[in-house]
Amino acid sequence: MIIFSLGVLSLFITAAARQWRNSGTGTIVLEEAWTVPELVDLITATPPLGEPFEEFKASFLDVHGRRLDLMDQNNIDFMVLSCATPCIQGISDPAAAAAMAVNVNNQLAAAISNNTARFGGFASLSMHNAAEAAQELRRSVKELGLLGALLNDYQQSGLDNTTLLYYDQPEYDVFWQAVTDLDVPVYFHPRVNIAQIRTLMYNHAPFIRGPSEEYAVTLANHILGLCTNGVFDRFPTLKVIVGHLGERLPSDLFRIDEQLRRARPNGLVMQQNASAYWRTNLYETTSGNFATSLLKFHINEIGLDRIMYSVDYPFSGEIRAPIHYDDGRASLDPSPHGEPSITEWELVASSALFAQPTVPLSLLRLKLHTGHKHQLRVHLARCLNTPILGDALYSKKPPSESINQITMLPEDRIFLHASHLSFFRYRPSGFKKRFRLGISAPLPPDFLRICSDSGIQVDPAEAKGGVFIDGIMVEDGKVPELEGDWMPELDEIQPRNKNYRAW
Ligand SMILES: *[C@@H]1O[C@H](CO)[C@@H](O)[C@H](O)[C@H]1NC(C)=O
Ligand SMILES: *[C@@H]1O[C@H](CO)[C@@H](O)[C@H](O)[C@H]1NC(C)=O
Ligand SMILES: *[C@@H]1O[C@H](CO)[C@@H](O)[C@H](O)[C@H]1NC(C)=O
Repeated sequence: MIIFSLGVLSLFITAAARQWRNSGTGTIVLEEAWTVPELVDLITATPPLGEPFEEFKASFLDVHGRRLDLMDQNNIDFMVLSCATPCIQGISDPAAAAAMAVNVNNQLAAAISNNTARFGGFASLSMHNAAEAAQELRRSVKELGLLGALLNDYQQSGLDNTTLLYYDQPEYDVFWQAVTDLDVPVYFHPRVNIAQIRTLMYNHAPFIRGPSEEYAVTLANHILGLCTNGVFDRFPTLKVIVGHLGERLPSDLFRIDEQLRRARPNGLVMQQNASAYWRTNLYETTSGNFATSLLKFHINEIGLDRIMYSVDYPFSGEIRAPIHYDDGRASLDPSPHGEPSITEWELVASSALFAQPTVPLSLLRLKLHTGHKHQLRVHLARCLNTPILGDALYSKKPPSESINQITMLPEDRIFLHASHLSFFRYRPSGFKKRFRLGISAPLPPDFLRICSDSGIQVDPAEAKGGVFIDGIMVEDGKVPELEGDWMPELDEIQPRNKNYRAW
């Protein structure tokens, strides 16, 4: 997944005639969160495993420390930083928003000024007034050397925050004119909806707030607004970047085009169909959405030259750090003798009781791309600085005392649970012979108890485990094609002896 994107991006960056590190094999990432001390408390996300909330917050403020170390370990040549959501779009007062945007852009430019070979920045803009936004963008690009702008979806406004400003209206043409004159991209990043929308739409199903559903739906609405209101027809060279594999839009182009074609006689002004803009104006990045099958589908739908790599640090990422073994113990080894080791990680949930972070504990989903014994333990402890709970060998310090206060940690138990295995099988007959058979082991009871004691939400389906065909759970665990009943009753599963711990 790391291989592409250099071609397209160098376009944006060389346009500003800047020198940046291009090792020829490295990567550029574009959706990478950073913030200023004044805004760090607005961040609502939760930290990865083992990381105290203060450290997590510090990772947003840091540029040259751990962030750069991780870039070096992961072969990332160049990172474009931007202010973590909602940033200026969460400030309803126009004067306060405009002043904060200038402050953020000045701090960002200063923070990266001594290492522009490795770091670039996207400007933050107050979108209360399009002409002022255009002016601040011009200043940010021409005077501060920033590479474009990142907008966190709609601008909230008004005394009760309920006036939502969308940039697809004609009064924003003056802004889009400046963007195209400067020839810089604008990244559209999601934001948490205003409280009133969250209450109306998500009180019935609070778990689908945020990245699982809310972000994609709300941002796709804004992007289709740009399309259908003719912004790309009026500004044919405009470049807009959409993260998280295009917030689902390229997955749904057939239906969108088909329905909009029918709307044309009713006054729809858009001159092309929506898929056409994905070939001329819109780009997507892979940030936080590392689904290889979907990526392949999107390559087919919109073409590889519209897709760019990004990570979404610090919420998910890929660790590429070779290791070597010495007397059975693994350590990092960047030399040519190290064994290539790749781990993908994603933050699933963090400790939060009553919505407050409580103990430094999170649940991560890891994907092993290279199967080295101890790779996960070393990568988590040394690269992410978030050792696996109970891993005394690779952690530098014992687990935080606060964890012992709210739950009981068993001795001699590493909370690394091998959960999902899958492989191809073949049906004896029928139309689609090959299928992927997956098996998830149930989460062990002590694992679940610690999650529940520390306020970590676990998806009940994942806790239960089961059998999957092509990624879809088979309710009763029966796979008739293989004459198989793959799920024994749970009470049939007995530990082989009382020291059995290899869950
Ligand atoms: C840039 O400045 C920061 C903060 O003073 C420092 O930590 C970092 O090492 C500097 N980087 C370079 C390349 O000089
Ligand atoms: C408006 O939003 C601000 C933060 O952006 C928040 O502090 C305030 O409580 C909100 N007001 C209402 C009425 O929701
Ligand atoms: C969308 O537009 C392209 C080119 O303009 C055309 O080839 C394609 O058939 C259109 N698709 C639909 C569903 O209208």
